[in-house]
Amino acid sequence: MSAPLQHIPGTFDILPDAQGTGGSDLAPAAAWQWAERTVRDVAGRFGFDEIRTPILEPTELIARGVGGATDIVQKEMFAFEKGDTQYVLRPEVTAPVMRAYLEHRLEQRGGVQKLFYIGPCFRAERPQKGRFRQFHQFGCEIIGSSDARADAEAIAFMMAMCDAFSVGETRLRLNSLGDADSRPRYREALRAYFAPYTADLTETSRQRLETNPLRILDTKEERERRLLEDAPRLTDFLGDAARAHYAEVKTLLGDAGIAFVEDPFLVRGLDYYGRTAFELESDALGAQSALGGGGRYDGLAEEIGARAPVPAVGMAAGFERFFLAMQAAGTVMPGTPTPDVFLVAIGERATRWAFSQAQLLRRAGLRTGYDLRSTSMKAQMREANRSGAPRVVIAGDTELDAQQATVKDMSSGEQTTVALDALARHLRP
Ligand code: HAM
Repeated sequence: MSAPLQHIPGTFDILPDAQGTGGSDLAPAAAWQWAERTVRDVAGRFGFDEIRTPILEPTELIARGVGGATDIVQKEMFAFEKGDTQYVLRPEVTAPVMRAYLEHRLEQRGGVQKLFYIGPCFRAERPQKGRFRQFHQFGCEIIGSSDARADAEAIAFMMAMCDAFSVGETRLRLNSLGDADSRPRYREALRAYFAPYTADLTETSRQRLETNPLRILDTKEERERRLLEDAPRLTDFLGDAARAHYAEVKTLLGDAGIAFVEDPFLVRGLDYYGRTAFELESDALGAQSALGGGGRYDGLAEEIGARAPVPAVGMAAGFERFFLAMQAAGTVMPGTPTPDVFLVAIGERATRWAFSQAQLLRRAGLRTGYDLRSTSMKAQMREANRSGAPRVVIAGDTELDAQQATVKDMSSGEQTTVALDALARHLRP
């Protein structure tokens, strides 16, 4: 017989208890529930409405939306064909949200659309700490406003999440990628600057110089980084409108006490951005230092078929990386909740009684457990202990005849006799 099948590397099971895998403790299901509740809570405070889009999207949406020259589209899509349809497991949620916005004419809801989402994304990257093939994002998209306040709002939302999760020290990097008219000029300037040095560039960077020169700014190669020091700066190519927009975003962040560092070399791995781009880093994460990122993407709607641009800005962050940063910051994540009460039954009648009593207590709102396997009192008490329930109800056939049961407080050991019809009231926490 072959060995039992295992999960695919780069994916993971979310289990009832924390589990050490791949050098990090993966959060238990209760922590995920708490995290999702926290996102919903903060999103509510910001006035974001939830949107849920399918995990399967047409490959063309991602290819056109995220951009054909990006690593995501060139190397990392889980894409397949079925019949005559090309499917992709979504690698991100911004293009899908814009598709849904256009498809359902969400602008008709009136006003600016402020949407948030939570859900899995898929990228065929090499798995390592903080980098998975199935990971989980939360994010927001603000659609229908070209105002700098929308950019600052997306950033404020991300920073509020950092507070709510207590992720410790972070660094917000900010840049402006300019408008569609300034980027081609900058691209040419970069190409011209690097032309005499092409022999010194890595193969990847040489390719990028052809297909997507801005991505060279992202290089981790020491030699290339030194070359970049004298390279033309995108910020020197900004048009007046983009420059004013960038200045306004910075002023708003300053007013709100949101610290940031300007990084003229910050580019993002997705091609739809123009003007504002930002990334949030934590030193606690090692090589995969980005907790979240985002920016403005007024051109995306047209890339995926809209007749006119739709101003929009947003951000997304990875839950897994938020959890890693929380762990490094010593923030305690909620564990699996214990039952409020555990029933221990001695005797055949009592065992049957315990089943129906458990349903009554649950109906009364109490988290109620009992042992589905053992009948001996010793074994049941052991299970009661393991469950962590603060109180245990013990009943035998004779006690039931008297319409009573014993309630034991597990921390003090104190025992009280309680009438059966008063049990739920007595046990209510
Ligand atoms: P992104 O920077 O590609 O942006 O991803 C956002 C976040 O998702 C990252 O900062 C990281 O926390 C997490 N993430 C990405 N890839 C992985 C992975 N392989 N394993 C674990 N976590 C990962 C976007 O996806 C844009 N849609 C953000 C956006 C929203 N821009 C505008 N609106």
